[in-house]
Amino acid sequence: MTPYAQGADAERERAVGEALGKLDLAAKTRLLAGQDMWTLPALGEIGLGSLVMSDGPIGVRGRRWTAEDPSVALPSPTALAATWDPALARRVGRLLAQEAHRKGVHVLLAPTVNLHRSPLGGRHFEAYSEDPYLTGAIGTAYVLGVQDGGVGVTVKHFTGNDAETERFTVDNRIGGRALRELYLAPFEAIVTGARPWGVMAAYNAVNGVPMTEHETLVGGVLRGEWGFDGVVVSDWLAARSTTGAIRGGLDIAMPGPRTVYGEALAAAVRAGEVPESLVDDAARRVLRLCARAGLLSGTPAAVAVADRPAGVDGDALARELAARACVLLRNEVRGPARVLPLEAAGLKEGGIALIGAAARQARILGGGSAQVYPDHVVSPFDGLRAALPAGVPLRYALGADPSAELAAAGPGFALRAVVRDAEGRELGGEPLPGGQVQWLGDLPAGVSYRRLHTVETCGTFTPRVSGAHRFGTRGTGALRLTVAGQVLFDGCQRDENADPFEAFFGRPTERGTVWLTAGQPVAVSLLSTPPKPEELPVEAVGFTLLHGEPEQDSEELLTEAEEAARAAHTAVVVVATTERVESEGFDRKDLRLPGRQDELVARVAAVNPRTVVVVNSGSPVELPWRQEVAAVLLAWFPGQEAGAALADVLLGAAEPGGRLPTTWPARLADAPVSRVVPEDGVLPYDEGLFIGYRAWDRRPGPEPAYAFGHGLGYTEWEYEALVLDRGDPEEGTLATARVTVRNVGARAGREVVQLYLAPAPAARGERAAERPERPGRWLAGFAVAVAAPGARVEVVVPLPRRAAEVWDEAAAAWRFLAGAYTVTAAHSSSDPRVSAALSA
Ligand code: BGC
Repeated sequence: MTPYAQGADAERERAVGEALGKLDLAAKTRLLAGQDMWTLPALGEIGLGSLVMSDGPIGVRGRRWTAEDPSVALPSPTALAATWDPALARRVGRLLAQEAHRKGVHVLLAPTVNLHRSPLGGRHFEAYSEDPYLTGAIGTAYVLGVQDGGVGVTVKHFTGNDAETERFTVDNRIGGRALRELYLAPFEAIVTGARPWGVMAAYNAVNGVPMTEHETLVGGVLRGEWGFDGVVVSDWLAARSTTGAIRGGLDIAMPGPRTVYGEALAAAVRAGEVPESLVDDAARRVLRLCARAGLLSGTPAAVAVADRPAGVDGDALARELAARACVLLRNEVRGPARVLPLEAAGLKEGGIALIGAAARQARILGGGSAQVYPDHVVSPFDGLRAALPAGVPLRYALGADPSAELAAAGPGFALRAVVRDAEGRELGGEPLPGGQVQWLGDLPAGVSYRRLHTVETCGTFTPRVSGAHRFGTRGTGALRLTVAGQVLFDGCQRDENADPFEAFFGRPTERGTVWLTAGQPVAVSLLSTPPKPEELPVEAVGFTLLHGEPEQDSEELLTEAEEAARAAHTAVVVVATTERVESEGFDRKDLRLPGRQDELVARVAAVNPRTVVVVNSGSPVELPWRQEVAAVLLAWFPGQEAGAALADVLLGAAEPGGRLPTTWPARLADAPVSRVVPEDGVLPYDEGLFIGYRAWDRRPGPEPAYAFGHGLGYTEWEYEALVLDRGDPEEGTLATARVTVRNVGARAGREVVQLYLAPAPAARGERAAERPERPGRWLAGFAVAVAAPGARVEVVVPLPRRAAEVWDEAAAAWRFLAGAYTVTAAHSSSDPRVSAALSA
């Protein structure tokens, strides 16, 4: 029985115990192994249904990785964190639970709470912040929201998966304090604050031990110290040792059917290599998870069907969140007022020049397992067109194409996938809304993997413009690409990276061009003979037909954009990263915007003083022209309602209320941590506690482009008072801050009141051992204030005891550091407003 099993929990524990007693060794070990890519087996003998898991975190993809089965696509996790609004994160969680039920999913593979250690981390867009407290607060609310709906989570990736290079094997060497005070801190906050039903063990090792086998961190810290009673599931393909994993406390090895658990685990028990009690413990936890999700018949689910939140409008929430997350980095005065929000009346003369590839095709989400397929996407162009009053001209220019690479076949293609056996007999097929075949353990109806020999993506392409269209492929094995009767490629593509997901995320390869005429359909076919490697635990087929519009002269594009901008009242340039820049599976090499986008902005700004730049990226990029433009608005990866939300913000229907959850450096060279490449398999976290603003604060030298917590909004705030009420550290609170702020601007708005705690400098004669090194200050609390123009609001922010504790490695315990502190209420880390002394 777990320490917090009470009431319904206790009843469930009894049922779980009974069910466990009825299972033999073979059944128990089967329950711990994926039966396919996303599910655990049903066990009819105890009335147990099959548990389904799915990614996460910005939508629920469901069992099928295809646009055939659409999902609401929300903004990137960096965007959610930029709201600094746990209440909104909880609503997001509830929507995701509703989506999960719609798709028959019981556990969402989210949230990602690794830290923004370096801006180069490939999955930076998928995590929340460089600050563990903010990450923990947003993550806790998200988990509470998902579980309010009776759906489980796997908080991931436990722990230290802060970059992608050699992610399957890298050994991250993290000091004891940094581990506790930074990397474990969000997990601790979520486990103790939201009781998640699951945690995902990361691919990497920490201090020499793979996270799927980490007895000390899993058994000792997660379960022992924090009282976690949920399951630990491996990241996909992360579990590599039967005895190591079960001894390390790993409950579920995913995906299946070939895993290190199941029969292999039963055999290890029979051979006396591991005690059966470890299998019992894991099986009990898995049964508990299934019971919570309502899959153990006769046992109450954690949330009754009638109590699940329902009727959440996904499109509306996606739009609200995308607007709320926008961070206004810069907003200069042009004429009588600041350039944003745009004045509809002024726009009638000259209108808007909307520029950039992403203005037509926004990059709505980051690449990799976080991908979902929404049933519609509102582009910035469509969003603005719909929102602008009649009579305001909107002229579009591409300006610069950020992607030299091809993308999955999209508009203009009508495609189908046809599966055949070795004799060429058709086994089945399905329509393909995009050019991607991504079958993971789930083939089209009637198709058997054993007999599957070829898959052909075939159909027609009707070009929108005449010219030399480019075609290519992604995927491995034998491929034959034919367009309009011409064979562009017939050969074999090898796996470059030895990453098992190479076929899905790997490099696109251009195979040739064909001159096509606008409006005239041609036949296309990509015939794949996919590899079927024995060692892959899951039945997988993945390859993609790629296409690129005819290339245009880049100089001409820039000139066209300049002309459009010169003629317009306001120029809005949308700059973006691409799938090859921000994705799971690899880290970034630099922070530059791809293609000639920097040049585009500089040239547009030179001809139009009202140039507004919208940054469409999930993580920091260098903005070398930022002082030359009138406004910079960070839209993140904004999800399916991208354009609608952007129009709301640009035209002032919504305030860009976001604040940076992570420092934006001016140049990569200034970033405190830029090493993400291991040497001989080892990546030392040499910077210790000093990541993000903790590091920027500490050293002299370059200032960041935009500080942690920065964001302007559309109104101004005065901080009138900060009063500290003493807390009781024994009860877990250091103090309670009451901050009075007044909206002194002309419109209603939201302010994120940020509280930083700074220790007083060490007294003379104090020994280092008595006062361990600490950052200059750190975020200790925050709250959102909402006020009408002229109105005053008091926010109450509890400051937790933990804010004044450090991890004492020698004692292996938290140590409260009593003494003098300063508490500062701030608009951002670079804009402190009022301070008060605190004697703790
Ligand atoms: C990712 C996980 C994801 C899993 C299943 C892994 O490669 O690291 O975050 O949940 O795949 O798609």
